[in-house]
Amino acid sequence: MFLWGTATASYQIEGAAGEDGKGASIWDTFTHEPGRVRDGHTGDVACDHYHRWREDVALLAGLGAGAYRFSIAWPRVVPDGKGETEPRGLDFYDRLVDALLAEGITPVPTLFHWDLPQALQDLGGWMNRDISHHFADYAAVVADRLADRVEMWITLNEPFVHMAFGYGMGVHAPGQALLLDALPVAHHQLLGHGLATRALRAAGARQVLITNNCTPVWPASGSEADLAAADAYDTLHNRLFNDPVLLGAYPDLSAYGTTMNTVADSPLVRDGDLAIISAPLDGLGINYYNPTRIGAPTEPGLPWADVGVTGFPTTAFGWPVVPDGLRELLTGLKERYGDRLPPVYVTENGCSQDDVPGPDGVVDDQGRIAFLDGHVQAVERAAEQGVDVRGYFVWSLLDNFEWAEGYHQRFGLVHVDFETGRRTPKASYAWLRDRLKG
Ligand code: BGC
Repeated sequence: MFLWGTATASYQIEGAAGEDGKGASIWDTFTHEPGRVRDGHTGDVACDHYHRWREDVALLAGLGAGAYRFSIAWPRVVPDGKGETEPRGLDFYDRLVDALLAEGITPVPTLFHWDLPQALQDLGGWMNRDISHHFADYAAVVADRLADRVEMWITLNEPFVHMAFGYGMGVHAPGQALLLDALPVAHHQLLGHGLATRALRAAGARQVLITNNCTPVWPASGSEADLAAADAYDTLHNRLFNDPVLLGAYPDLSAYGTTMNTVADSPLVRDGDLAIISAPLDGLGINYYNPTRIGAPTEPGLPWADVGVTGFPTTAFGWPVVPDGLRELLTGLKERYGDRLPPVYVTENGCSQDDVPGPDGVVDDQGRIAFLDGHVQAVERAAEQGVDVRGYFVWSLLDNFEWAEGYHQRFGLVHVDFETGRRTPKASYAWLRDRLKG
């Protein structure tokens, strides 16, 4: 059965930042620091989903969605990240799961979509190996409560983006700019994934996935220097997070003048870690937004330069719209990993637009319809070319808090008025509903 769904994430929609015993997350801290997020926006209220969740489940039901990917806020369930659990946090997700199931919608929770408990950041966050174990303990708590009804689980969302933006460049929480010294964050997240997979299975979870953000990497030219740079970028963005999970080995990082074991906290990768990380999975979640064009470096530092993809339409974010890039990505994964590639689920795909309701209240987002239609066709072509693709989740159900961009980038099938919380389904919502009916 092919799963059609939409995706969201806790910090981006829930609000209720300090309610019902929830602990602070690194995003609560980061958004309240001056200058971190555009216009000082925070997720304190966001879409107020924590209070309006029934309305949002009704929107999913009206769409005819077969599945809903949401994330669980770790500090809502375990306020300090380890130790005491908060029953009111668990109750919230319990009710949500029951309401989804009552509508025939498969719940697909993600355990970590970047809102790390601040108390764990105070211990070093994902730079600290202990966090991997705390993550597995938290996974066990959630699964003990929900695995009797939830079949499909995702451990992490986009460990690459969390490492690169959060710890490498400092544009996301926790706001650290460690550059390549952030590599332990890759290993500790992956170890956390492996340990959590074990905990989930022990609690009866039937299907476990990880979601990686992947991009087809296009060399700027056929020159040897550009090809080597593209290969180095592919290694960092794609292979660093897929190879250990699917092949049980890290890729060669010599283009960066390092190995996983020459960074701080050596030896970072200990005996047995890769066996834990590469435990068999039931699927690989892939988030795709656009390809990346890479040339030889122009300044010292990293062994590549992002030269930008040109010649395509762009989203409000300025990201190139390249639907066939999704086919290229999926078939490329199949070529690279062969039989080691489990079934693939596109766990996010979508675009931001400057959506404004017209005088009649209608948001006529034809650009998004064209975007989604093109990408769904690309998934179909990938399937024809032999990739076992089993799901497609639109990012996102609702306009929401878009990280460093605050509320400026609207990705939803449903428009949200952030002053009132009012939801208005856009034309793309009706388009998808009709397509799912058909
Ligand atoms: C993330 C989402 C984000 C989306 C659009 C993905 O990297 O998982 O949280 O909103 O991209 O930027």
